[in-house]
Amino acid sequence: ANDEENIGHLKRQVAKLFEVSLKATVPSEQDVEPLVAACTAKFGDYQCNNAMGLWSRIKGKGTEFRGPPSVGQAIMKNLPPSEMIESCSVAGPGFVNVVLSKDWLAKNLTKMLIDGIDTWAPHLPIKKAVVDFSSPNIAKEMHVGHLRSTIIGDTLARMLEFSHVEVLRRNHVGDWGTQFGMLIEYLFEKFPNWEDVNEAAIGDLQAFYKASKQRFDTDSVFKEKAQKAVVLLQGGEPKYRKAWAQICEISRNEFHLVYKRLGVHLEEKGESFYNPYIPGVLEELSEKGLIEESQGARVIFVEGEKIPLIVVKSDGGYNYASTDLAALWYRLNEEKAEWIIYVTDVGQQQHFDMVFKAAKRADWLPANGSLYPKATHVAFGLVCGEDGKRFRTRNTEVVRLVDLLDEAKTRSKAALIEREKAEEWTADELEQTAEAVGYGAVKYADLKNNRLTNYVFNFDQMLSDKGNTAVYLLYAHARICSIIRKSGKDIEELKKTGKIKLDHPDERILGLHLLQFSEVVEEACANLLPNVLCEYLYNLAEIFTKRFYSNCQVVGSAEETSRLLLCEATATVIRKCFYLLGIAPVYKI
Ligand code: ARG
Repeated sequence: ANDEENIGHLKRQVAKLFEVSLKATVPSEQDVEPLVAACTAKFGDYQCNNAMGLWSRIKGKGTEFRGPPSVGQAIMKNLPPSEMIESCSVAGPGFVNVVLSKDWLAKNLTKMLIDGIDTWAPHLPIKKAVVDFSSPNIAKEMHVGHLRSTIIGDTLARMLEFSHVEVLRRNHVGDWGTQFGMLIEYLFEKFPNWEDVNEAAIGDLQAFYKASKQRFDTDSVFKEKAQKAVVLLQGGEPKYRKAWAQICEISRNEFHLVYKRLGVHLEEKGESFYNPYIPGVLEELSEKGLIEESQGARVIFVEGEKIPLIVVKSDGGYNYASTDLAALWYRLNEEKAEWIIYVTDVGQQQHFDMVFKAAKRADWLPANGSLYPKATHVAFGLVCGEDGKRFRTRNTEVVRLVDLLDEAKTRSKAALIEREKAEEWTADELEQTAEAVGYGAVKYADLKNNRLTNYVFNFDQMLSDKGNTAVYLLYAHARICSIIRKSGKDIEELKKTGKIKLDHPDERILGLHLLQFSEVVEEACANLLPNVLCEYLYNLAEIFTKRFYSNCQVVGSAEETSRLLLCEATATVIRKCFYLLGIAPVYKI
């Protein structure tokens, strides 16, 4: 990345300075990567940890240095002069600590207010990615696991998009498979006028699925018909194709209700899409000698796994794995994606491990998993009920997502009405705020945890205005907006004429944290961890409230202009975090 691209990326700008210094310090080692990290405030803002590693490379080779601390001293001395740096020091075994100049920090914050926060977007080493997320199964339940996939996947897509990556948001719906035989036969049987049937007539598609399964399991004549139906469907028989498309459409409309509420955009390319590619892909794998015969099935053995990956079942049919191999091939070769990301529960880990290993054996992916093109499984844990078991509601076996979102909204609305100010609101405002708060709470409660841990779904907790919740954050943002509003000043005018200053220690802490936004987003993208961004956001709200706003008078102070601009910069970064987390901001509380 060039200098223009590093604007707002403190860590990389500091690293650039150290890169120059390292080369000058030990000219014989030109390939040393600067190791720079943010550090505890006691030592400084950033720290370079190269001295020890460098020392072990050069010791005994007639170097003038006497040990890591002297290497550290030299690294510090060789830093090129820069207005970024206020002071440096060497600690312990050669750690070089850097304190950034507050004037330089302030200048960059002021600049962001004028140029916009998108100038702070990190630059990732890739141009195009596929995020395969949500991906429910037609006519089966869309359960909380799919909700997690939808929420996590959307956030990852947003973060990558913000970071200049073109993202293909793929809904890999389960729309192909043997279950369609029984669904189609049941549709014919139940609705003689099946061509006119819509979601209203079918009612609950899950119940429809269950009923057809029951017929399949208990009636051998029906079962035989259903099995024939699969063959006819896969052979492309128009009537069966049409019935299949209709069932998919009904299911799709249901999924859509959830996506609409969550504000999630996805493009469907379901399992059926890749079906035509399977034979060719398997042929290629066969030619490369990867496919073997095992107990009537065709399989791929991959390193470190006891069981093989079945790619053609013993009845000759394709399966989940054959489809995923074809999809991976398509994404690499047709769509030219450099990073392919799959968001599903951790239960599918082995499946993806095996598919990726097979792809490496086939030379589709480099053996070194940190190089691009790259495939990554983004696994997540369970959503649990209060009892610590898989989340279910009282009367139904699975939680319907729409009901869950309804309840979140109803509850947040009730809480808003309880707050006195809600009376001043129009019905529209109340509705919109209830949605922003309710849906935001559900999303944030999910995203704030490390995705691999199971978490307990608890409405009271997620809708509380205290602690690390979306409600607390939404209120913090609205409060900042109201500080600016109540000052009576025109913030756009102040942006043009005013400047941020960071003279008070709490102003400086806030300013530094704001400027770390870019590297945090980059880290969240690199490790595909939305909770990293949540943690940053929560800390930002805490620093603003507990440090800056508690200790620095804004309105009526001598620093009013600077501090109002600092409020605006904070609100801007918070809103960008909200956007990346799929949360809608509110402006009034
Ligand atoms: N339909 C699958 C499920 O509900 C998830 C699909 C994930 N994507 C993939 N390419 N396999 O479990």
